[in-house]
Amino acid sequence: MKLVAIVGTNSGRSTNRKLLKFMAKHFADKADIEVLEIKDLPAFDEPEDKIAPAEVAIFSQKITEADGVIISTPEYDHTIPAPLSSALEWIAYTSRALINKPTMIVGASLGLLGTSRAQAHLRQILDAPELKARVMPGTEFLLGHSEQVLDDDFNLNDADKVAELEEHFAEFQDFVTLTNQLVKQADTDRKKAFAWEVEE
Ligand SMILES: Cc1cc2nc3c(=O)[nH]c(=O)nc-3n(C[C@H](O)[C@H](O)[C@H](O)COP(=O)(O)O)c2cc1C
Repeated sequence: MKLVAIVGTNSGRSTNRKLLKFMAKHFADKADIEVLEIKDLPAFDEPEDKIAPAEVAIFSQKITEADGVIISTPEYDHTIPAPLSSALEWIAYTSRALINKPTMIVGASLGLLGTSRAQAHLRQILDAPELKARVMPGTEFLLGHSEQVLDDDFNLNDADKVAELEEHFAEFQDFVTLTNQLVKQADTDRKKAFAWEVEE
């Protein structure tokens, strides 16, 4: 199984990045997880020709080629960080690569309960007509006190949280397989053709 894991921030010291790197290492025998950065993408603007800059096109292509997507989001001001919004706007406005893509949301925060509001918000955003990811329902992985439990070698030093994540990830692998069997290409094509503008 080929997955991409999007770091939901441009921060150099991000614990969300460490969480994804831990997942890539810990689940290496179950899936090939490539960690994708948004920090090198330009801020979204609205190109009239709807053509994405090269970095965005490469980013989108990796999503298109993956069986599923993991997004790890911090929480800023009760929502997702602006660079993650910007990356999603690029995808919505150009490739629409997330449409029908099985997606798992996780989040790490310095405090105890951080990212629950950001994760709920991200679910809502991913249901927008131009994004329409298939987000795994019924699970929420929140990693609090992330600076204490994640180290620089990408270890997660909390056995209970590792066990919880293993359970979520096993469920996600089944969700990816089943969703990709369920989704019809015609549905993806119809959703990709969505337009806000009404044709004259
Ligand atoms: C501008 C800003 C706003 C933040 N707002 C929240 C918030 O609303 N809720 C929260 O739990 N943490 C908040 N935090 C703390 C972040 O959750 C914390 O920095 C987190 O570790 C970021 O993830 P990272 O380690 O991947 O950078 C905020 C941090 C910043 C810089």
